[in-house]
Amino acid sequence: MTLYTPSWPIYTERLLLRPFEDSDLQAMYEMQSDGEVVRYLYHDARSLDEVRTALARKIAAVGIAGEGDGVGVAVVLTETGEVVADLSLWCVSEGHQQGEIGFIVHPAHQRKGYATEAARPMLDFAFDVVGLHRVVGRTEARNIGSARVLEKLGMRREAHLIENEWVKGEWQSELVYAILAEEWATLSVAITSTTRSRP
Ligand SMILES: CC(C)(COP(=O)(O)OP(=O)(O)OC[C@H]1O[C@@H](n2cnc3c(N)ncnc32)[C@H](O)[C@@H]1OP(=O)(O)O)[C@@H](O)C(=O)NCCC(=O)NCCS
Repeated sequence: MTLYTPSWPIYTERLLLRPFEDSDLQAMYEMQSDGEVVRYLYHDARSLDEVRTALARKIAAVGIAGEGDGVGVAVVLTETGEVVADLSLWCVSEGHQQGEIGFIVHPAHQRKGYATEAARPMLDFAFDVVGLHRVVGRTEARNIGSARVLEKLGMRREAHLIENEWVKGEWQSELVYAILAEEWATLSVAITSTTRSRP
């Protein structure tokens, strides 16, 4: 079984993508302990110990060999060296070659296009390296920023599920976005790629 891993580091116009490391704890804590950031996530604001456990899982997510495997991506602002986002790509079905992408941006760095910029090379990896057929992005229906990122990536809104989940004491609705490998390939040719590798 092949373990597919990104060719780290990956550079985009403003960002460096790399695996998570222990020293990312503070940045992760600032993201995951913030009530607004976790508002539409499945978990509540986390304590430092809970973040430490979550970070260990991210560090262990080194590549995709089969179903359930994933890649945890620390997104660093090249100019300052700050970790500005936490991105994940994982394989939800090996047989159906389906993946899922998710992202969390540090509260001090939202609305600067970082989620979209960091997700593009990970979609390249999902389709070109892992060979997935379809990648989805799911978000709570009120999470306008997240839906917007998925749209800006060129993903298609395929479903608006109404009150399909009981989360944090309420019924929540979910948007499901998706893109196929062949659609991503067409888009990648059409848009000037911001992805480039540095020696
Ligand atoms: C959702 C999230 C990842 C977006 O990251 P980001 O780096 O700010 O996203 P981008 O800057 O690439 O794009 C965001 C787009 O949504 C818009 N947007 C972001 N937040 C918004 C909000 N609260 N209301 C309306 N529009 C919003 C931005 O204007 C931008 O659109 P534009 O380029 O057309 O102007 C970030 O807000 C976040 O981390 N939220 C908390 C965690 C979370 O919910 N993650 C997603 C789980 S499914």
